[in-house]
Amino acid sequence: MAEPKENNKKYVTLVDHQSGKSIDLPVLSGSIGPDVIDIRKLYAETGYFTYDPGFTSTGSCQSEITYIDGDAGILTHRGYSIEDLTEHCTYMEVAYLLLNGELPNQAEKDDFERTITYHTMVHEQLLNFYRGFRRDAHPMAILVGVVGALSSFYHDSTDINDPTQRMIASHRLIAKLPTIAAMAYKYSVGQPFIYPRNDLTYAEDFLHMTFSVPAEDYQISPTVARAMDRIFILHADHEQNASTSTVRLAGSSGANPFACIASGISSLWGPAHGGANEAVLNMLAEIGHKKNIPEFLEKAKDKNDPFRLMGFGHRVYKNHDPRAKVLKKSADDVLNELGVSDPLLDLARELEQIALKDDYFVERKLFPNVDFYSGVILKAIGFPTSMFTVLFALARTTGWIAQWNEMITDPTQKIGRPRQLFTGHGERAFVPIDKR
Ligand code: SDX
Repeated sequence: MAEPKENNKKYVTLVDHQSGKSIDLPVLSGSIGPDVIDIRKLYAETGYFTYDPGFTSTGSCQSEITYIDGDAGILTHRGYSIEDLTEHCTYMEVAYLLLNGELPNQAEKDDFERTITYHTMVHEQLLNFYRGFRRDAHPMAILVGVVGALSSFYHDSTDINDPTQRMIASHRLIAKLPTIAAMAYKYSVGQPFIYPRNDLTYAEDFLHMTFSVPAEDYQISPTVARAMDRIFILHADHEQNASTSTVRLAGSSGANPFACIASGISSLWGPAHGGANEAVLNMLAEIGHKKNIPEFLEKAKDKNDPFRLMGFGHRVYKNHDPRAKVLKKSADDVLNELGVSDPLLDLARELEQIALKDDYFVERKLFPNVDFYSGVILKAIGFPTSMFTVLFALARTTGWIAQWNEMITDPTQKIGRPRQLFTGHGERAFVPIDKR
């Protein structure tokens, strides 16, 4: 990984007006994007910590994988725009790009697809794991448990210092997540598990394992398979978001990759993050009709009301999320192909139009994000809302594992261990229970 260059010895000077002391802090530059102030020596030289809950102004690492320009609404993976990647690539090509840094040539693509294909089966004993869950268990709960358990089945690829084992574990996770996700769905609807098929593409195989039954194969529509593959691409990676940062932090202690990805799945589950796609559909169903939109917009603006407009807003994008624009168009293609007209899609469009004219949303630069339209497409394909975040986790596994590999091979990486601003009691004398 290229060292960040010290920007012509550019520094910022921090002056402590209490002590009169000052410190010059180096400014580091990446290839594109904001410069950073290197504060690694700040505490040792000044006794001060920085304070940034939610990390709104904090860079946790350097990376070459994904770049986001939130003001311009730009998203690139290894320099390629998300628009080009969704237009011209398959998810397998993007997975190869994220992992290896370059798009594959035909031979590399065929070899990678073959490797992933021949890892799609899971250990047969893993099936018993599912039977421990209640039938009505949320598929995300199953996913967290089963992925975390993979390290007990594939212990031969948990030595994080062995590049070969790291790559085998990476391939196993990318290949097995669709199988595990489809099994979580099958278990929740009481249908038998469907084994993967090596003659299908990654997206086709996932649709097959999810919707086929022993009595009848699912008829795979090329448009639906393409939309599924495109949804995987759009969710593959997204810089240092909450779940990716969770994976990196877990990995910084040396935890095995299966445990790290399970931690990422847990973080993604939250409604403020990957759980938003499920929350959007529930919100649209609660709004019910466009005449109710003004009432819900008022609720979203009311600070005393915990209701937020799900699928709107983003920590980084202060312009349209480019992924939402691709998904909005894809929604038309899929629903037209399936001959589905979903009033929730019309409601979503109406809601977007009205919100983007409302000063509250305009002033705060709150635009639809990746989760706003994805749910409508997934519902049209036939997924229950409880599976939406599972699909997000399935697709994001490639980004998580690429970021994990980058962190492991970063010579400057150390165990992540933030500090705090302590506001509790100073030391005090112990009080025996009979005196309390
Ligand atoms: C993802 O980080 C990533 O990259 C994530 C992701 C990825 O690919 O990994 O892109 C995937 O998680 C997308 C986001 C999905 N979440 C939602 O759609 C949930 C609804 N959105 C909000 O919860 C919120 O917008 C966040 C969590 C996404 C971002 O929150 P921030 O950056 O902490 O912003 P904030 O809460 O400080 O909001 C700034 C202002 C606040 O108002 P003021 O205090 O300035 O008056 O905007 C308001 C917020 O109250 N606001 C909203 C809102 N989002 C922000 N008000 C109403 N509805 C919303 N959705």
